[in-house]
Amino acid sequence: MSEYAALQSEIEAEISAASDLPALEAVRLSALGKTGRVSGLLKTLGTLPPEERKATGAAINVVRDAVQSALEARKIVLEEAHLAQRLASERIDLSLPAAPRAKGGVHPTLQVLDEIIAIFAEMGFSVAEGPDIEDDFHNFTALNFPEKHPAREMHDTFFFNPDENGVRKLLRTHTSPVQIRSMIADKPPFRLIVPGRVFRNDSDQTHTPMFHQVEGLVIDKTAHMGHLKWVLETFISRFFETGDVTTQFRPHHFPFTEPSAEMDVRCSWEKGELKVGSGDSWLEILGCGMVHPNVLKACGIDPEEYQGFAWGMGVDRLAMLKYGVPDLRDMFAADARWLSHYGFSGFAAPNPASGLS
Ligand code: DAH
Repeated sequence: MSEYAALQSEIEAEISAASDLPALEAVRLSALGKTGRVSGLLKTLGTLPPEERKATGAAINVVRDAVQSALEARKIVLEEAHLAQRLASERIDLSLPAAPRAKGGVHPTLQVLDEIIAIFAEMGFSVAEGPDIEDDFHNFTALNFPEKHPAREMHDTFFFNPDENGVRKLLRTHTSPVQIRSMIADKPPFRLIVPGRVFRNDSDQTHTPMFHQVEGLVIDKTAHMGHLKWVLETFISRFFETGDVTTQFRPHHFPFTEPSAEMDVRCSWEKGELKVGSGDSWLEILGCGMVHPNVLKACGIDPEEYQGFAWGMGVDRLAMLKYGVPDLRDMFAADARWLSHYGFSGFAAPNPASGLS
């Protein structure tokens, strides 16, 4: 047997003896790696007299190809064995009864989103949605945030790395960009709400990097602040199930509305329990205002002809207030015990006929 054939069968024996993937990889390196045995042979070619190089080179290549295909064949066998072993060890007996404590439920945020949608649907609002990954135009520019304005940074925006064209996408910081998408895609009048996830780089007892908002938008030829007040007071009355609703509108600033306000609702806290109605506290609920003419213009709508109002509110906070959840971060900790305590039955879907909560 030639020296090469002997090396080949030696390596092939090692390959068949390799009992798992790391062992096989060690054989591969010792044969074909930079300092491996076959690679070593190839390096000696240069020292041979020119007339011998061709034949010797071909003989070494035969060894290399044989080793390579033996490695590949063994790899498939070992991978299949590894998979079979994993499948066997991770096998789950589906006929076993479920662990009794792991009881699921509808998350309070989703329950409250459904309540909000049911209330506004009854008032003739439709539901619009948009993407979580947005661009600067929809999240800021079209909403009348001045270019390079600190407000863009104030939102604690999560930016993606720029793509090959230098365009920097972001995770939407609010549901307001769906106002823009809806107004560009359709013709006025509009009467819609936008439930959705939003993202800001912020985390403490009352902030989580992901949370939920519902945006509202009404555009027609005559909509005014009085309508806004009625719509929102009617919503609060239905949502907190009380006829006793007093609101106050505090002047505020948002780039996309003029005038802008924050709306508070009168309430009381008795033994830590919230009661909407009479009382000496105010609950800050949402931001709102008349849609800025620049926003309408950015969507191709003539502000001389159309006008309207908008608002945005945090859903998770409303869920905490209504159902007594103390810490926002627990809402998204994915703890089954928390969910079985605060969650809702899947059969308790809110609708106007059977009640909201
Ligand atoms: N987008 C605002 C935020 O996330 C909330 C908001 C305020 C939305 C006023 C509106 C509005 O549509 O009119 O802070």
